[in-house]
Amino acid sequence: MYITRIRLTNYRSFKDTALSFSKDITVIVGPNASGKTNVMESIFLLSTGKSFHARIEEEMVAYDEEIARVKGAIIETDGEKVGTNLEVVITRGTITIGESPEKVEKIARKRLLINGVGKRLVDFAGTFKTVLFGPQDLGLVTESPSIRRKFLDIVLSQVDREYRRASLSYEKGLRQRNKLLLGIREENLSRSLLLFWDKLLIKNGDYISKKREEFIEFVNSQPPFDGHKFELIYDKSAISETRLQQYAEEEIVAASTLVGPHRDDFVFRVKERESKRVKEFRELAPYGSRGEQRMGVLWLKLAELSFIESVTGEKPTLLLDDIFSELDHEHRDIVFGASKGQQTIITTADPHYVEGFEKIEKITLNSL
Ligand SMILES: Nc1ncnc2c1ncn2[C@@H]1O[C@H](COP(=O)(O)OP(=O)(O)O)[C@@H](O)[C@H]1O
Ligand SMILES: [Mg+2]
Repeated sequence: MYITRIRLTNYRSFKDTALSFSKDITVIVGPNASGKTNVMESIFLLSTGKSFHARIEEEMVAYDEEIARVKGAIIETDGEKVGTNLEVVITRGTITIGESPEKVEKIARKRLLINGVGKRLVDFAGTFKTVLFGPQDLGLVTESPSIRRKFLDIVLSQVDREYRRASLSYEKGLRQRNKLLLGIREENLSRSLLLFWDKLLIKNGDYISKKREEFIEFVNSQPPFDGHKFELIYDKSAISETRLQQYAEEEIVAASTLVGPHRDDFVFRVKERESKRVKEFRELAPYGSRGEQRMGVLWLKLAELSFIESVTGEKPTLLLDDIFSELDHEHRDIVFGASKGQQTIITTADPHYVEGFEKIEKITLNSL
């Protein structure tokens, strides 16, 4: 499965732009602020139904516009060229109709469509699968747990509809349960009201933890990378009746659910050389060099690629957003090697990095 064409209308810096992609490697070259990351974001949006960096989705709508549209043509099976059209429409929640007197009407903030038919997020996401690797991914090692949970959700949501359903249900349930905890604290509501939400969170939370565990096990079964044996340690916040009972009083004081996958984390570790017998594994966040941390992330990204393929039998499209300047020569070669296995779309400000590449198509974005 691969993407052949995308059309961006009033999407961030693009008024109306169509781009075509090779089924092998496409390189998008353009100076800073020419919209390279915006293109990657739009492809990722078709894949997951979400942005990877907008704080609010409205940010994707071009300034002074009310509706942004991303349309993409996906080829499912090359032999028969079965095509699927994916479309995401983002709005500010209202639309202006007519001119003086103009009328403002409420509309949906987001619409997801497959072949022109509106879909819910659970049915839209993962139709087209991608793995994104950008400079922000170094944060996977060093930044807060929420970044790592988001990463797990992105991978697992693409391959598993039940995971998407469980996550949405869990998030909703969590909000309700926290509201109720506040009600118990402030208004003396009955604690027995929690029971329903406890069950819902335990049921969905169990599924989420189980899938996260499986993914992490898969990643850890990958061969050593670049001479280093990396591993992830899952710091699971299990949710069960016993655990909820244990935290019952604290939860009411905090008006917040204190256990469950919304509190999960994982850490990166790397194996020390055999000769040093001080400690077998060393954590990458506090003790890794920038270079090691970068390699850890690259290792994880390549594992993500294999995971999606092994679970779905399909190769995801690899999106490499401006990562070459961060890598040294040797590691650039590793990434190049990985680019050959599936459709890959690369952005760079400096075309030098992709010289000598065979079979690449080049797109040039001009500065705005
Ligand atoms: N909603 C928006 N409307 C119009 N332009 C936007 C919007 N959001 C971002 N931009 C513009 O997009 C540009 C950044 O694009 P980006 O893809 O990050 O560039 P690159 O990755 O090539 O450096 C900036 O000039 C910014 O002003
Ligand atoms: Mg960029």
